[in-house]
Amino acid sequence: MCFTRWLALSSLLVTCWSKDLSFPVDFTFGVGTSAYQIEGAWNVSDKTEHIWDRFVHQHPDRIYNGNNGDVACDSYHQWRRDIAMVKELGATFYRFSISWPRILPTGFTNHISEDGVLYYNNLINGLLKEGIQPVVTIYHWDLPQRLQDLGGWTNPLITDWFASYARVLFSRFGDRVKTWHTINEPYTVCDMGYVIFAPGINDPQVGRYLCSKYILIAHAKAWRVYDEEFRAMYNGKISIVNHIIWFEPKNQNDSVLAELAMQEFTGRYSHPIFSKEGGWPPVLETLIAEKSRYEGYDISRLPAFTKDEVELVKGTFDFYGVNHYTSRLVRKRPSKDAPSSYILDSLSELGVSFEASKDWKSTSSSWFMEYPEGFRRTLQWLRNQYGDIDFVITENGYATASQSLEDYDRINYMRTYMEQMLLAIKEDGIKVLSYTTWSLMDNFEWLDGYRSTFGLYQVDFSDPNRRRTPKLSAKYYASVVKARSLDI
Ligand code: NOJ
Repeated sequence: MCFTRWLALSSLLVTCWSKDLSFPVDFTFGVGTSAYQIEGAWNVSDKTEHIWDRFVHQHPDRIYNGNNGDVACDSYHQWRRDIAMVKELGATFYRFSISWPRILPTGFTNHISEDGVLYYNNLINGLLKEGIQPVVTIYHWDLPQRLQDLGGWTNPLITDWFASYARVLFSRFGDRVKTWHTINEPYTVCDMGYVIFAPGINDPQVGRYLCSKYILIAHAKAWRVYDEEFRAMYNGKISIVNHIIWFEPKNQNDSVLAELAMQEFTGRYSHPIFSKEGGWPPVLETLIAEKSRYEGYDISRLPAFTKDEVELVKGTFDFYGVNHYTSRLVRKRPSKDAPSSYILDSLSELGVSFEASKDWKSTSSSWFMEYPEGFRRTLQWLRNQYGDIDFVITENGYATASQSLEDYDRINYMRTYMEQMLLAIKEDGIKVLSYTTWSLMDNFEWLDGYRSTFGLYQVDFSDPNRRRTPKLSAKYYASVVKARSLDI
């Protein structure tokens, strides 16, 4: 079987297969976005400011070219076109997020914005009309500024504020939304948020670990609200979504460090929820406690869970949501003063250093390296750690510096990564139920502004209506979805 149809398009795709590259019968395909990255309308109606609004306006110097998401893809007005695009792709579902301050302008439940509810109702109903399932992320980084001013994710009370916000969403949309993601990438919220992302607080030593604890409890409380108050009525599923970089030992004797990196980056946000015993990964708990003592703290910088909290968080999942993009080689950090990467800063403090293999292709985004095998290894690692649970791929995608419509590199990335996922399903027997490509369209890529684009659709950011045009990758993905196979 040859890869004939796409062969003509790019020499990169000249490959012949003897393998079965079809997807399981009940496998589903989707495409994703998030509120701040696409909606715009940052101060429309009664929506209030959130931490990214504040951050981009206060620190334009920290964002590429001073870009911001004030208008972004204007999806607040262009949502009909967005639905049409998801339909063109033939996707089974659309993953998008709800903006907390668009629904709860005060951050709390004393005022529910009916304009906000109407916007998401239109989107949800419009999708369902086209036979597309809405998959909703409750928190994709846009915390109401007021809650930030009250301590944000380091204030234990946020666990209840978040559960209350989630309850509003379940009551307003739960009759139609059957898949919920509580928090998108707690690693990014805490470990980037307390280093370089909004809210722009630089406290990697303590802030990040307080945030880690309370975001996990917030997730757990929201999961329990759904489980206890809504599941019997609506019969949906809900879980958390983690960002996972695959850390591979550079040399054989680096394997302990690579495992430590996996535990710090992924285990910290997984072990408390998905392991049988719950709580922090033991190796991390011991290491950070020792380090904290050595630094003169009388308690660990990684705050302990009480016994009740361990029980509260443990088991609060219906599936494991995986965002995977890239991999790193791991080796010992040569010296304490060696430069660290801000993205992997938490690992630098544990004596881990990183590099990309010379064999991996680097993408145009500064930190994505292509290593498709890392995707399969990620899934194997997760299954080994947490058992034979259901996995869903909530994000996987490729950044380009140009918005070119002829995005062969993206097609190659998608094909090779999806192939590794298929191997994990077929040869390793890992239960991966769905795949979501990031992203439906070019959008506001956080500190990278509009420089790194992940879209299957190009967005013309100079056009007041933000005209969208399909790239070749959109056509490629639509063909895969239609054929339910990579053999097209
Ligand atoms: C993960 C995040 O969820 C998303 O917001 C971001 O655009 C992609 N990674 C690409 O960096």
